[in-house]
Amino acid sequence: MNLIFSADANWGLGKDNQLLFRASPDMRHFKAKTLGGVVIMGRKTLESLPGGKPLPGRVNIVLTRNPESLEGSLQQSLEAGLHLWVCRDLDELSLCLGRLDLPSEKVWVIGGAEIYRLLMPYCQEAWVTRFLAAAAADCFMADLDTDPDWRLAEEGEQQEWENLRFRFDLYRNERAKELPLV
Ligand SMILES: NC(=O)c1ccc[n+]([C@@H]2O[C@H](COP(=O)([O-])OP(=O)(O)OC[C@H]3O[C@@H](n4cnc5c(N)ncnc54)[C@H](OP(=O)(O)O)[C@@H]3O)[C@@H](O)[C@H]2O)c1
Repeated sequence: MNLIFSADANWGLGKDNQLLFRASPDMRHFKAKTLGGVVIMGRKTLESLPGGKPLPGRVNIVLTRNPESLEGSLQQSLEAGLHLWVCRDLDELSLCLGRLDLPSEKVWVIGGAEIYRLLMPYCQEAWVTRFLAAAAADCFMADLDTDPDWRLAEEGEQQEWENLRFRFDLYRNERAKELPLV
């Protein structure tokens, strides 16, 4: 299982339940990595997606402590042929992942801040789009440069898109735990 996220210079992730930057190279990168796999997200991130709908071409697993609140989304997803699974805790998530039985590199944790915090100990890699500018964020990722479990494995070349400078970096978790499969 891997993390994928974009962060600003201060590891900011978002503001007002939206991304800080919407850069097409980052969107293409995210799509190329996750298409055909499983994406795990928190209920707030689901709400932040266009139309509040799950992502097509992927199995979407949404974590919420109140699954009843997503009954409408489940019904709409079914009608639209989108794959939405809802889990209320880590045990249910383990159960879902066990049933899907996909290789770990096809399972992506896609946010937001709460869910990254919850699942990062179980992730082997973090694919980070690192924007070099600082934005006014209201939620943050842990600083992987100072986290003793994580190390920068590959620093991407600096790129530019519409005056925004960014890199695609890869971090590895040297003490990744197994998510216990129920
Ligand atoms: N930069 C990026 O790559 C990126 C990616 C994704 C999101 N984001 C940003 O991140 C922000 C949203 O992050 P967030 O931290 O506010 O919300 P979030 O992580 O998307 O969702 C939080 C929700 O997840 C559920 N949850 C959390 N822990 C749980 C657990 N242990 N078991 C079951 N359910 C659990 C709860 O839902 P209930 O309240 O329904 O119980 C909680 O309110 C937005 O600004 C978004 O744009 C950024």
